[in-house]
Amino acid sequence: MKIVFVDKSLKGGLLVSSVYEKAQLGNTTKALDKLSKGFIKTAIDNAEFKGGVEKMLRLPSVPGLSGQLLLLGLGDPKAHTALTLEKVGARLFTCLNALREKKAIIDISDISGVKDLSVAECVAYLASGALIRSWKFDKYKTKREKEDLPVLNELVFVTPSVKESQKAFDKLEAIAGGNRLTRLVVSEPPNVVYPEAMAKYARELKKIGVQVQVLGEKEMKKLGFGALLGVGQGSVRESQLVIMKWMGSAKRADKPIAIVGKGITFDTGGINIKPSNGMEDMKYDMAGSGVVLGLMKSLAMRKAKVNVVGVMALAENMPSGSAQRPSDVVKSLSGQTIEVLNTDAEGRLVLADALWYTQAKFKPQYMIDLATLTGAVTVALGYEYAGLFSNNDKLCDMLTKAGETVGEPLWRLPMGKAYDKDINSDVADVKNVGSGRGAGSITAAQFLERFVNKTPWAHLDIAGMAWDKADKPLTGKGATGYGVRLLNEFLVRNFEK
Ligand code: BES
Ligand code: MN
Ligand code: ZN
Repeated sequence: MKIVFVDKSLKGGLLVSSVYEKAQLGNTTKALDKLSKGFIKTAIDNAEFKGGVEKMLRLPSVPGLSGQLLLLGLGDPKAHTALTLEKVGARLFTCLNALREKKAIIDISDISGVKDLSVAECVAYLASGALIRSWKFDKYKTKREKEDLPVLNELVFVTPSVKESQKAFDKLEAIAGGNRLTRLVVSEPPNVVYPEAMAKYARELKKIGVQVQVLGEKEMKKLGFGALLGVGQGSVRESQLVIMKWMGSAKRADKPIAIVGKGITFDTGGINIKPSNGMEDMKYDMAGSGVVLGLMKSLAMRKAKVNVVGVMALAENMPSGSAQRPSDVVKSLSGQTIEVLNTDAEGRLVLADALWYTQAKFKPQYMIDLATLTGAVTVALGYEYAGLFSNNDKLCDMLTKAGETVGEPLWRLPMGKAYDKDINSDVADVKNVGSGRGAGSITAAQFLERFVNKTPWAHLDIAGMAWDKADKPLTGKGATGYGVRLLNEFLVRNFEK
């Protein structure tokens, strides 16, 4: 979709103009009302349209105006934030698309009093919301139904400063681009997105300045990635470890922030096979890695002034004659031995080696992993918050604030010795599942903590957030890209000053 900023209302196409709380007309709407000799005011009264936020009123023909007019309710401008404006933009996109217009001109340049944001920035956030919402995964539909055809392909935004809106939007477009890449790889079927395919997506980021290194099974075997390789050994697809580097900090020697993603491109459960009902959902078990990929793209696109290492731990968890068995013992990269009591607790196994490798190799300031790790986290938190687990309070605060700001919220859950002892094994150093006394998400986090070597670390269990069966305001149904905007905000706020 084409997004353009202009400094005055142009003619042609549908026009969107603003109405604020208590049916107060925005300046543009007011001018049109005058031109139409009070037509708009009357129409608003008749429809009892109050200008509440995200409410809309369509006026197909207004005297003096050639195209349609869509009145956009913005409520109280003082109550807006970047996020609420993005949501309005998303909602506006959905409405305009339903109206089958090719192009629309949007004039909210009369908005004033939004805290911390200039009018030009408000306009950019509106555009960002529309852009995020406009992405749809329909590449495999060869016979599209007419109603499904996205017709809207150009949005023109009126702004008091084209330059300022464009500058703000360039950053937001980079973030949206990362979010969309994540949603793409998460939506792709597992016969298309397998470990080597993810590595290929990563290599494409070289064009925009990301350094990429890929370890295959041979290299990992030599280095001792016994836990990760055990998970992939039942699959005909080769496991991969992908390391991406974006070194944008002015001080090149700055220790990096490391982001590590679970990348199970399909999780059958392995020999502890999952029930067939709902197994198809396990194509998104690589969402953590998908976020790492999307984030790296965003950082490079907007030339972020920060050093970030992104690692994707990629394998396919299949049952077969060569698959690992429940009760196998593997030796992890850290040297710790792991008793694999359940082959369906595979995410923590690939992460164990990826986390250990990352801290040993890059000595990061902070290390954050994202993983669709446990069904249990959805029992605790549903589909509203991702679970946050950490050994560092400051890191938790930074992440929680960032998540709130962008509408990708986190809720911290406890960790501690009492939970940790639940994963002591009788035959090895650690076992990959707890003793079945509840708290499945916590014991999973305790397992990961044994592989972070005291690095300040946080684990985000995104099993409930990566995919939405309902309809998210910004991202609709399906893959959400949850985590890209959150981590981007975390980096901007705390490390790019
Ligand atoms: N990938 C799943 C977790 C998951 C469940 C992600 C639902 C997204 C939606 C993970 O590998 C898994 O199978 N976890 C097991 C752990 C158990 C065997 C200890 C689970 O949650 O049941
Ligand atoms: Mn599993
Ligand atoms: Zn899994």
